[in-house]
Amino acid sequence: MTRTTELTADVAEILLSEEQLRTRIAELGAQVTADYAGRQPTLVSVLKGSLPFMADLMRSIELPLRIDLMEVSSYGGATTESSGLVRILKDLSASIEDEDVLIVEDIIDTGLTLNYLLRYLRGKKPRSLRICTLLDKPARRLVEIPVDYTGFTIPDQFVVGYGLDYGELYRNLRFVGVLRPEVYASSE
Ligand code: PRP
Repeated sequence: MTRTTELTADVAEILLSEEQLRTRIAELGAQVTADYAGRQPTLVSVLKGSLPFMADLMRSIELPLRIDLMEVSSYGGATTESSGLVRILKDLSASIEDEDVLIVEDIIDTGLTLNYLLRYLRGKKPRSLRICTLLDKPARRLVEIPVDYTGFTIPDQFVVGYGLDYGELYRNLRFVGVLRPEVYASSE
């Protein structure tokens, strides 16, 4: 059995501490609260990685709001990274027509997932559609994405924790850390 202390040992460097995450998410929440004043936004989170961010961000927003959850996955295989084909594993549970929708993501990497989701959600005729991402990794971008709120812009390193996984593990770490290269090199 692997304990989180052992998972932490796989982390080379803490990129964003629990405290840094807390402070920045409070700022993002305040910004969203100001921007959506008088409205009742719908936060749409994209599972699974954005789960901790969604949970913390929604509690930093001092407005009446609704949430909905989607789960998507890229079609497997190396070629799909450039195809941008995304499969919807869990769809919205309610209509977003005429709603002010804020997509909540943990990370934007190539941008292919959000590129697909933006088109998909625009088709549902929301009143407005914006993006809030905790992490942005612009070095890997393949398509341009109009990001409205960014927590942190990060370098092109393999990060885990605070929702982000490697092989479905590490999501429950309280910080965002850089995974030791030997961890993913050993399983390739
Ligand atoms: C991650 C992340 C984004 C996507 C970003 O999800 O949550 O949805 O990848 O990458 P992109 O910009 O290159 O499309 P992932 O598919 O790893 O699923 P998960 O959230 O369940 O870990």
